[in-house]
Amino acid sequence: MIVDDEEGFRALTRRVSREAGLTLDAYKDKCLRRRLLVRMRACSVHTYAEYMGVLDRKPEEWEKLKDALTINVTRFYRNAETWDRLRQELLPGLLQARNGRLAAWSAGCSSGEEPYTLAMLCAESAAAAGHAGWTDRVRITATDIDRESLERARNAVYPQASFLEAPAWVTGKYCERAGESWRVREDIRRMVTIKRLDLTREAIPVAAYDLIFCRNVVIYFDRPMQERLFAQFAEALLPGGILVLGKVETLLGVAREKLTLVDARERIFRRAA
Ligand SMILES: C[S@@+](CC[C@H](N)C(=O)[O-])C[C@H]1O[C@@H](n2cnc3c(N)ncnc32)[C@H](O)[C@@H]1O
Repeated sequence: MIVDDEEGFRALTRRVSREAGLTLDAYKDKCLRRRLLVRMRACSVHTYAEYMGVLDRKPEEWEKLKDALTINVTRFYRNAETWDRLRQELLPGLLQARNGRLAAWSAGCSSGEEPYTLAMLCAESAAAAGHAGWTDRVRITATDIDRESLERARNAVYPQASFLEAPAWVTGKYCERAGESWRVREDIRRMVTIKRLDLTREAIPVAAYDLIFCRNVVIYFDRPMQERLFAQFAEALLPGGILVLGKVETLLGVAREKLTLVDARERIFRRAA
């Protein structure tokens, strides 16, 4: 049984904020407590103070804690219906309107499966429009707070399990074998620029985007932080630009005045043209 110790909780979160470089203030309280408890149970300790002792003794526990706090589960073509909607209609329209000069941002990209899926869809749409060369014009910025995930994104080598939701052409056309795994092809990787960015405390990249993905990231943030981010995304979108959220996320705050709903099920919004 884990004791109800508010002071211990505060001391631990202060230390984690300081030493792990995470702004925990912006994380939902319940979410934070649940995640900490998962690690405490895994270490068989019952108090926050004991858990701090574990962090002192076992440096590797820091990595496990960071993973637990910034869960970075992702897959290629995650939520296939969302990608299908983009592929069939929205992406070809955007590419056509911008003559291939599409600027996109995957905010909270984890290990890169999302931005690479988008790059593959751009290649598909460009080829279908008879402009395969447009892929040289596509710019996808992929950001995340987690350095290890970003390292994996840069390596771009993934096990078969990362493709469970993806149609066969994703590996067949756009990856090459790397032993048991798959490496994303160079022409796809070239479209994606990977950077570290903490959405809770750094200014968002100064740019105008046609497409912003922020899926399964804001669920960890409290409402004021979500509203602030959504407002920034709405501002950063070009007229006619598209915002895609995760399937359980809801657009909140002033961003609702700037963005109109395109697809309620897939959480797709568009800035007025
Ligand atoms: C569940 S993954 C989502 C990956 C991908 N967008 C998807 O839906 O498949 C959540 C990602 O958000 C990142 N994240 C959490 N807090 C963040 C923050 N403050 N700034 C930037 N990224 C953050 C985590 O590191 C993690 O990679």
